[in-house]
Amino acid sequence: SEVYLNGSWLKTEEAKISVFDRGFMHGDGIYEVTPFYNGMAFLLEDHLERLNYCLEQIGLNFDTSEIKNLVYEALERAGLSNSDAAVYMQISRGMAPRTHFIPNDIQPTFLMYAFPATLEGFENKSWKVLLSKDLRWHRCDIKTTSWLANTMANSKSHELGLNETILYRDQVITEGSHSSIFFIKGNSIYTHPEGPAILLGITRKFVIGLCRELGIEIREKPVLLSEIGNIDEIFCTGTTTQIMQVNEMIFEGKSVFKNCRKSETLKKLQSAFKEKTL
Ligand code: PDD
Repeated sequence: SEVYLNGSWLKTEEAKISVFDRGFMHGDGIYEVTPFYNGMAFLLEDHLERLNYCLEQIGLNFDTSEIKNLVYEALERAGLSNSDAAVYMQISRGMAPRTHFIPNDIQPTFLMYAFPATLEGFENKSWKVLLSKDLRWHRCDIKTTSWLANTMANSKSHELGLNETILYRDQVITEGSHSSIFFIKGNSIYTHPEGPAILLGITRKFVIGLCRELGIEIREKPVLLSEIGNIDEIFCTGTTTQIMQVNEMIFEGKSVFKNCRKSETLKKLQSAFKEKTL
């Protein structure tokens, strides 16, 4: 298979970067994952807008205008033009002698490739999740390739045979290690408000819009650890997660949330989501 690296399509094993690339050495870079349903881009503009936001936030100059066309070439070269797939792209600061400050005038490193994704059948799956302390930095709105805190958090649930680690900071549940989280209580849905404590999930934003379209009350208000016992239903969202029901949550070795039924509200949201991605 092929990857796009700094302007050329290369066989994966021929694509090389410098050991002094700041992406490799310092995790100095950002990334994006964008979905394709049967070869058709879904919310691509929003993903590119977030990519540009992240570039701006870390002060990296990179022209993203070619990406819109390149993503389709990535699918084609991977033989995924008529499949469910995703495109990964990352921009790192580039190669420079190792310094704590960010050097001027270095060439960013741009990598992109398409990979197959399972986007069908999410409505018949569910997750068991672990609740764990959020040890990430204070700019979680930046989709950085500095992944250490996310992967360490995710590994905790993975080692227990669970599907995702949900994070809390100062008693507030923020998001998952790679997904956004929503809580249903009575007739309302709650999710953490936008800000530096969470990634501004594209699927999150789309689902908030769906709730408004369907007349479901949605509040951007965080849920506290102490409120978990009063929650009726939980679901996570994300590019490849879509809308995933959570049927159990483990915290400090105990099950603190369990639910096996699915409300009409969640069924409606999932089928509306499916319709929009047809
Ligand atoms: N992750 N929160 C975090 C920390 C994430 O890493 C992700 C997505 C989300 C959901 O965002 P979106 O709806 O825009 O995909 C929330 C991607 C898919 C990944 O890491 O592969």
